[in-house]
Amino acid sequence: VCGNALADPVPLKKKDTYKVGFAQVESNNPWRLAQTASMQDEAKKRGWQLVYTDAAGSAAKQVADVNSMIAQGVDLIFLAPREEKPLIPAIKAAKNAGIPVILLDRNVDASLAKAGEDYVTFIGSNFIEEGQRVADWLVKNANGKTTIIELEGTTGSSPANDRKKGFDDVIAKHSDFKIVASQTGDFTRDKGRQVAETLLQAHPDANVVYAHNDEMAIGAISAIEAAGKVPGKDILVLSIDGGKEAVQAVIDGKIAAVVECNPRFGPKAFDTAVAYANGEKLPDKIINPDQFYDASNAKDLLSTAY
Ligand code: AHR
Repeated sequence: VCGNALADPVPLKKKDTYKVGFAQVESNNPWRLAQTASMQDEAKKRGWQLVYTDAAGSAAKQVADVNSMIAQGVDLIFLAPREEKPLIPAIKAAKNAGIPVILLDRNVDASLAKAGEDYVTFIGSNFIEEGQRVADWLVKNANGKTTIIELEGTTGSSPANDRKKGFDDVIAKHSDFKIVASQTGDFTRDKGRQVAETLLQAHPDANVVYAHNDEMAIGAISAIEAAGKVPGKDILVLSIDGGKEAVQAVIDGKIAAVVECNPRFGPKAFDTAVAYANGEKLPDKIINPDQFYDASNAKDLLSTAY
């Protein structure tokens, strides 16, 4: 009986107001700050109590943060798992404590934890599609720029794994394109700059930089300029996230194209929790729609970027 109970998703009681946790990954970039603000604004609007934690880029701290939310007896946990594997025990601990978990923005290894069983559902972008959209744009607009350096996100995270897969699979179908180096810049501006610097020196013929997020793309622009080259002319820079600074860089001609990764989770996250409490059947994944920016629309859409 106990085994059956644990195979089912943990229910959420219907209440007028909830105390919910939001276990954030880190807050070192505009995307994370926009996501946190969206969650905090929505909690305030609904009069729900939000227990917010910032794992400061450490999966071990994030596990401890979830355990502390469990100890505080929150009704539900929104979790943005830093990496695909290390947060699994925390998800299972919440389940064993009778606390439902909704995954926000980053996913976990599907062979180790299941939607509708270990956690309620995943809400976020389709990261594979984001990588595909960047690659499709490049294939159409390369104009002879075919030698690619790839800056990967945090190793072991779902956006890094999936943005790489989506992009690399498309590129592999075009024999004239070549990824000459692919290395992590950990989603940060400074590491993106440092890694781009090293890779540009090792591959002076590279004429495309594909960064898994804006921060690394902006870091790469500094590295390109430091190498005496012109971003947008000598080297095409491609990115994912679509924050204001990156969309402005598209307008300025320094970034060629950006796929948005929508950080505004608040309304959808809280609506999903309510739908779950009401007993609605939820899909395993709830996918956010993402905008696409290039020179054709960046000016018009700048004001809508986060
Ligand atoms: O999980 C989404 C990614 O995480 C965003 O692209 C990145 O900027 C953030 O840190």
